[in-house]
Amino acid sequence: MLVIYQSETGYAERYARWAAARMNVDCFSVSDASWRKGEEAVFFGSVRADKIRGLKKARRRFRIQATVAVGICPYSEGLCERLKKANGYDGILFAVQGGVDRNKLGWMQRRLLDAVSASLKSRGDEDLAQIVREGGDLSSENQLLNFMVWWQAWSIQHGAAPTPKEKKTSASVRNHGAEET
Ligand SMILES: Cc1cc2nc3c(=O)[nH]c(=O)nc-3n(C[C@H](O)[C@H](O)[C@H](O)COP(=O)(O)O)c2cc1C
Repeated sequence: MLVIYQSETGYAERYARWAAARMNVDCFSVSDASWRKGEEAVFFGSVRADKIRGLKKARRRFRIQATVAVGICPYSEGLCERLKKANGYDGILFAVQGGVDRNKLGWMQRRLLDAVSASLKSRGDEDLAQIVREGGDLSSENQLLNFMVWWQAWSIQHGAAPTPKEKKTSASVRNHGAEET
């Protein structure tokens, strides 16, 4: 299993690295991982106008077992259904909140965010509207809880085949044991 991500301002990457550390598997951006093509992977991608960036490419290159959408909207069943529809994706989907770093965005993207902020405000979500307008970080490792529960079940079901990292670890444990005797 691999963790693959596509991230524009760093939030999807942050979640991907948190998850990979807990899963003890390798983590790559979708464009750096072509040498691992064909492997089973979970994908983390940021949301732009309901599109999960990089998901199509990741699905062409890897056997995607689950996807985590990193956006600004809080998780809801309705959000996941909308994202699945907008991305033509019917697999397992989780949604977590990232953040907005306006300094890393171009003029056009900042203007688009202003429009998103105005629409959130008109729907009565003033707190989120302010974060989108001024920037802010809503990411937290705790939001990966549902994903980690899924991963535990997946690894049990699939016999938790050792990953390259785990193989390396058990080899070094063996070597260490040899030194001691
Ligand atoms: C132009 C633009 C459009 C966005 N559209 C959405 C959206 O439709 N839904 C959403 O939840 N978040 C949306 N966001 C928020 C981003 O998904 C959020 O900032 C995310 O944390 C970015 O992740 P990244 O740093 O990995 O790119 C949008 C952000 C920008 C800049």
